[in-house]
Amino acid sequence: MQLSKPTTSLLPRIEKMLTGDRTIAVVGAQFGDEGKGKIVELLALWADIIVRFNGGNNAGHTIYVDNKPEVLHLLPCAIFQRGKICVVGQGVVVDLEVLKKELGLAKGRGSIIRIDRRAPVILPIYKQIDGLREAANSKKLGTTGRGIGPAYEAHASRYALRMGDLTSASRIREALNRGGNYYAQLCAAAKSLGGTPQTEDDLVKELLGYSRMVKNLLYDTVEIVRKALGTKKIMFEGAQAALLDVNQGTTPFVTSSSCTIAGIYSTFGQLPIDRVFGVAKAYVTRVGEGPFPSKIVGEMAHALREAGNEYGSTTKRPRDVGWMDLFALRYAVQMGGITDICLTKADVLNLWSQLQVCTKYMHGKNVAKEHRLMTAEYVKECTPVFEEVEGWHGANLTGIKLFGDLPPALQQYIRDIAAFLGVPVSMIGIGPCHDDIIFHG
Ligand code: IMP
Repeated sequence: MQLSKPTTSLLPRIEKMLTGDRTIAVVGAQFGDEGKGKIVELLALWADIIVRFNGGNNAGHTIYVDNKPEVLHLLPCAIFQRGKICVVGQGVVVDLEVLKKELGLAKGRGSIIRIDRRAPVILPIYKQIDGLREAANSKKLGTTGRGIGPAYEAHASRYALRMGDLTSASRIREALNRGGNYYAQLCAAAKSLGGTPQTEDDLVKELLGYSRMVKNLLYDTVEIVRKALGTKKIMFEGAQAALLDVNQGTTPFVTSSSCTIAGIYSTFGQLPIDRVFGVAKAYVTRVGEGPFPSKIVGEMAHALREAGNEYGSTTKRPRDVGWMDLFALRYAVQMGGITDICLTKADVLNLWSQLQVCTKYMHGKNVAKEHRLMTAEYVKECTPVFEEVEGWHGANLTGIKLFGDLPPALQQYIRDIAAFLGVPVSMIGIGPCHDDIIFHG
């Protein structure tokens, strides 16, 4: 199959959808891996400035470059689009090795990359501690092992080494010795878990090796964004998802950053966001160890996982799969100010003639309280309640361009979702290519 990269032929349709909008955000509305990469790459055609605001290389956005799939973990998906300003904000934690690789991919593509001076660097020891903690933990979180948690700990403790510190050996040493002897404290932690950390001298040498690479990329990205407000078109590209949000997700099975628009406000300040697109699969997937009430097991799970190629783009882990969970999705919409849903992989769910949709959880005899979905223990105590709906079994959606040409059962599925959530389903993914999107309304 020929997999396309987005072509400007789709731009008029996107512009029609975004008439009057200047600033938009695209965020995950489930547990990550909803197919945000394709959506952000598509909507980046419209934007002048594309901003990553949270997470790090725990994200994996699959996009198509020269008809080949490429997974971007750190830089915004628009790095392959000429003239686009691609920003990595101060709320993103930066793995320098990954940055180097992705700068290599972006080379010669004509995009402009700006990284915030204050963005925390993921030190190699953070990855070690992340992995060792998981190994030592009888109740694993199922992290990606990329050092994300320890990097955000450093940020919150105010000891993080930041991108701007990479410019000289003295600044690196100063940062590594914040709080008295910060790096020695980290080494003690790693050793207590059985690790063998790199010496400070070796680390300084390694970090200095990146100073030339980053020198001309470092900016105050808050200034870039705020100066552009109202004059340029801005798109914030979210990583992870609402239900993995450090404050609003199913704690402790969450990531360490703010994945909703709260993460934009906390780093770029209050600003008008015209539209917040929440990307959701037509079903649900989750990796890691967190609770998953609408999970399917057995043969059906296997069939859905294979049909959707549900294997982690960052870790290659098989993803758990489940039925659409509207109860959790409505929580994500309400907490995250989502104004529109992009429903992805509707084509994949053509496996059965009857589908289940979770519409509420019961907690004992009572309907579960939505705001308590942020505690894993509470969710584990809940029982999902499903409604059966008609499927579009075997339907081939290839080439369909209009909502009205979709199978009636899929049209109904989408109308039901919009009615339940109280927001429109504005984009519907019906295949892997960028053309396989139906704009609705
Ligand atoms: P961490 O972000 O690596 O610390 O992992 C914390 C939790 O978030 C784990 O359950 C991960 O599997 C999950 N997670 C982190 N990033 C992603 C993502 O991009 N997609 C799906 N799950 C993710």
